[in-house]
Amino acid sequence: MSYRDTYQHSISNPVSFWQEKSELIHWFKKPETILSKNKEGLDCWYPDGELNTSYLALDYQLEQGRGKQTALIYDSPVTNTVQKYTYAELRDKVAVFAGALESLGVDKGDRVVLYMPMIPEAVIAMLACARLGAIHSVVFGGFAASELAVRIDDATPKVIVSASCGIEVSKIIAYKPLLDQAIDLASHKPNSCVIVQRPELECSLIEHRDHDWSILNATAKAKEPVPVLATDPLYILYTSGTTGKPKGVVRDNGGHAVAMRYSMEWVYGVKPGDVYWAASDVGWVVGHSYIVYAPLLTGCTTILYEGKPVNTPDAGAFWRVCADYGVKILFSAPTAFRAIRKEDPEAKLMQHYDLSKLERLYLAGERLDPPTYEWLKEKTRLPILDHWWQTETGWAIACNPVGEELMPVKPGSATMPTVGFDVQILNDRGEPAEPNEQGSVVVKLPMPPGCLPTVWNDTPRFKNAYLNIFDGYYLSGDGGYFDEEGYLFIMGRTDDVINVAGHRLSTGEMEEVVGSHEAVAECAVFGVADQLKGQVPLGLVLLKDGVIVDEEELEKDLIKLVREKIGPLACFQRAIVVERLPKTRSGKILRKTIRQIADGEEYSVPSTIDDPSILTDLEDRFSNLGMA
Ligand code: COA
Ligand code: AMP
Repeated sequence: MSYRDTYQHSISNPVSFWQEKSELIHWFKKPETILSKNKEGLDCWYPDGELNTSYLALDYQLEQGRGKQTALIYDSPVTNTVQKYTYAELRDKVAVFAGALESLGVDKGDRVVLYMPMIPEAVIAMLACARLGAIHSVVFGGFAASELAVRIDDATPKVIVSASCGIEVSKIIAYKPLLDQAIDLASHKPNSCVIVQRPELECSLIEHRDHDWSILNATAKAKEPVPVLATDPLYILYTSGTTGKPKGVVRDNGGHAVAMRYSMEWVYGVKPGDVYWAASDVGWVVGHSYIVYAPLLTGCTTILYEGKPVNTPDAGAFWRVCADYGVKILFSAPTAFRAIRKEDPEAKLMQHYDLSKLERLYLAGERLDPPTYEWLKEKTRLPILDHWWQTETGWAIACNPVGEELMPVKPGSATMPTVGFDVQILNDRGEPAEPNEQGSVVVKLPMPPGCLPTVWNDTPRFKNAYLNIFDGYYLSGDGGYFDEEGYLFIMGRTDDVINVAGHRLSTGEMEEVVGSHEAVAECAVFGVADQLKGQVPLGLVLLKDGVIVDEEELEKDLIKLVREKIGPLACFQRAIVVERLPKTRSGKILRKTIRQIADGEEYSVPSTIDDPSILTDLEDRFSNLGMA
């Protein structure tokens, strides 16, 4: 079959296509219905199937004779540790921790929040929740206490699993005070916390609430996998939207397992036994899908890397890991390779390592910019494959389908829609766009298995944010176009979401924080181009009448405030006081135009602008600051 045949089959007959693919996993009860609507009128895959994702990732692999194969390699240059777990060892640890969680009252359907650094216990805890049918919600370690508190209140976990600290290059981040503060701030209180004590910085435990991971596990009884329905949630992962309140993206068990297993072959060309490395973080969707679930469901060896692309200890770190473990597929964000290229432009460090097992590099999280693509291609001489996806979808919406047919690469394009995703471009009038005409990138319903069935506790929000804009379509929030050969180009968000070093952040949320400062009357936060991180946020601030401040001091205050309220990962480093903000006559801030001016791009003066002279003022201001 060619890509086009397989793709067409998946779109014209999704039920028979995904029925066949459901055979890739072992069900406790095979689904008789493949696709149906739930009571809320939403699509659901395999509604009467029963399975357990932890069983598929572990016990099933043992049954296939993989007990002695390495399942997980923990490589931590920041602690000088390498630890390997066979499938049998990982299964045992997961089964025991599932028993430990059960002893704390965690049952099927209960939520467990994980606020964890990149340590094996994070993976063990995720799989232990899945074993019980409990729903995990991992919160990235770079988020501040108040962000964690928002997620605790939304997910209402019975238990939180965390660690005493995380380690960031040369500094130790104490997690426990952040956790305690988050629990103080949240209205919902967990019954218990389980804390991994790390030798680099131990923490004190609160009596009757906190349990030491090791002590709890020492007496826990191993737990067998609990059958769940395909439609039961496996996890909730919060992602930034246009407002301050993050959206709890729900992932189900059945569709997810099928999509993960199938994607390993079709998108990545990976087989059981291969070594697969997603250099990401378990706090992000890439970490969920391709550090934990997909590689283990496929019987691969996966790598959990607690380090950075540079400075741990140098820009050869990625190549060292690939060589040490015979990595076949490396997946990371373009920003990571920009950091490597900056430190080692000639890729001299790459020459120290045997990369003969490495077959392909995959990039996602932001558009793979052509210079980074060219550099990687020249230095590695391997296929460099951009693929486009989102927390919401859990796997690639567009990719170069290696498992079927490797297409010629067009730099700047994520190649073609993935099977099951009927990707279309709609213009402002909601009509199909012509080739090369930019518009909103949408996916015609039904979305394939693996994509979010809803937003946690908020189906109206799910419908309003994604489904009600263009009837019958999922709105991706990205803009882009197809060229005349059907290659898809994703050009960036059409909403207030920005991508900073592969991390998705809401400028609306940053505006709420900046706007809460007592001196600030109004503000606009938007993303400006950054050579390393892709984008970084920039704040324009209007002061309250009569307020006089030292602008440098105000900037420092605002930077501190965003760090405290959102977290260091926001990388909010600049706030500029302006006298006026360009707006439409109806009062909407013209963010896109401001961004274009800040980036020195050509722009057209919007016809709806209230006062065009503000734009020339801004140009002068940015140019005086050496920006535009
Ligand atoms: N826990 C606590 N703090 C964290 C953290 C974590 N898990 N991750 C990041 N931070 C902090 C950093 O310490 C830093 O704090 P600082 O301002 O006090 O120095 C801040 O958040 C920003 O971190 P980061 O974005 O990592 O910037 P950097 O300049 O240290 O590193 C890169 C730049 C490009 C090397 C880094 O961003 C990177 O590796 N990006 C790849 C991201 C990725 O893999 N995304 C997944 C998508 S596939
Ligand atoms: P996240 O949900 O954090 O994975 O971020 C998803 C967003 O990142 C998408 O909506 C895009 O804006 C952007 N993105 C991810 N991968 C790509 C890609 N390959 N090309 C362009 N944009 C991408």
